[in-house]
Amino acid sequence: MSELYSDKKILAPMVRACRTPLRVLCLMYGADLCYTEEIVDQKLIGATRTVNGCYRIGKYSIILYTEVLGTIDYCYGDEIILRLAPEEKGRCILQIGTNSGEKAAEVANGDDVAGIDVNMGCPKPFSIHCGMGAALLKETEKVKQILTSIKAVAIVPVSCKIRVLDNESDTLNLVREIEKCGVSAITVHGRRRDERQPDACRINEIREVARLITKIPVISNGFSAEINTFEDMEKWRSETETSSVMIARKALSTPSIFRKEGVLSKYKDIENFLELACKYDESYTMTKYVVQRMLGGDQEHDPRGRATVLSGSVLQICRAFGKDEVYENWKRERQRKQNKKRFRTDEFGILNVDISFPLIRVKIIQLISIIMGLASTLSEEKDQLDILIQLGFSILEMSRRINRSRCHWKDDQNDPLVA
Ligand SMILES: Cc1cc2nc3c(=O)[nH]c(=O)nc-3n(C[C@H](O)[C@H](O)[C@H](O)COP(=O)(O)O)c2cc1C
Repeated sequence: MSELYSDKKILAPMVRACRTPLRVLCLMYGADLCYTEEIVDQKLIGATRTVNGCYRIGKYSIILYTEVLGTIDYCYGDEIILRLAPEEKGRCILQIGTNSGEKAAEVANGDDVAGIDVNMGCPKPFSIHCGMGAALLKETEKVKQILTSIKAVAIVPVSCKIRVLDNESDTLNLVREIEKCGVSAITVHGRRRDERQPDACRINEIREVARLITKIPVISNGFSAEINTFEDMEKWRSETETSSVMIARKALSTPSIFRKEGVLSKYKDIENFLELACKYDESYTMTKYVVQRMLGGDQEHDPRGRATVLSGSVLQICRAFGKDEVYENWKRERQRKQNKKRFRTDEFGILNVDISFPLIRVKIIQLISIIMGLASTLSEEKDQLDILIQLGFSILEMSRRINRSRCHWKDDQNDPLVA
């Protein structure tokens, strides 16, 4: 039984909401696991992975970086489609949207995230028209092909999230087939493809799945409307006889639902969220969307709510909640770190290292000289790139030990860098 998904309180995947700030906030409050928003496989395939704060040295393909945000970013064009914070390590599940085993397998071979989940429950036309989301529920062979393809390459656990089918026995047949694919967990949203929020969650049908699937954790989902306290999550877990519970809407309106000590006021939740949105440089549209969902009816009745509706930037939203100084501080901090480039080549092509402690600086420069000397002696016999690789790894090790900076290799010189 996979421990990763057993006996857990989980933040559900939510498009536009489950990005870095909300995920980190829920984890800080006490959620055990968080899911990303669904990201379509094609976008992930086309994305560039960078470690935030990389610098290229000279014309070589060595990339050294100091920590600006300390995040791992997947960028698709100008858009950051996934930003993983250090706090999420081992606790974040990437949810993908896919209709093809081949494409899904292409994005499933890393270990930046703790697990990969396939969305098989989204009933929205944009998902279904491409054969993704809930469209897969009627395509058992496709489901098997996708899951086994991912399983064949994934080095992290694989799971999927389904809705119940129109017929109870069809649901049971499907989950039986899914279990055979070797997944580590199944989430069951207790609504049918054509059912929506006011429709009751089909607790009994989730329970039937949990009784049938006993070798892997079943995660129940769909009862946010019934959750008002931390204890309610345990109540519904036990009602459904599942291993874990997953919460979406309640966690979006009240992220502190994951606090054992009790929920916080709406405004405290918003302030805490804004601090993380500033820290992780979240976009204006995504920040505004989450704050508005947390505000609910207060968008009309509270001056802070009205100011949010009228806002045109993250700074303006922050100002409405007295967090403009936090915004400015994080902005300054990012700029300070970005400007502090520790490694650069001068006009003579000599590598310069700039770090804070003079003694260490001397040692690093000595070490680099030795490596450079060695590289130039060997350069006639060996390929230049090999030598540079050695040099890169030596600097990596050295900077890790001495400076707690980190180092990352790229052999494609055309990769864009975050500087
Ligand atoms: C704003 C929003 C976005 C959602 N996006 C996703 C998504 O990306 N992937 C997914 O599997 N489900 C998505 N869902 C569905 C939820 O994960 C969840 O299954 C549903 O809201 C029922 O759970 P709840 O009663 O706790 O809200 C989304 C729901 C909401 C409200």
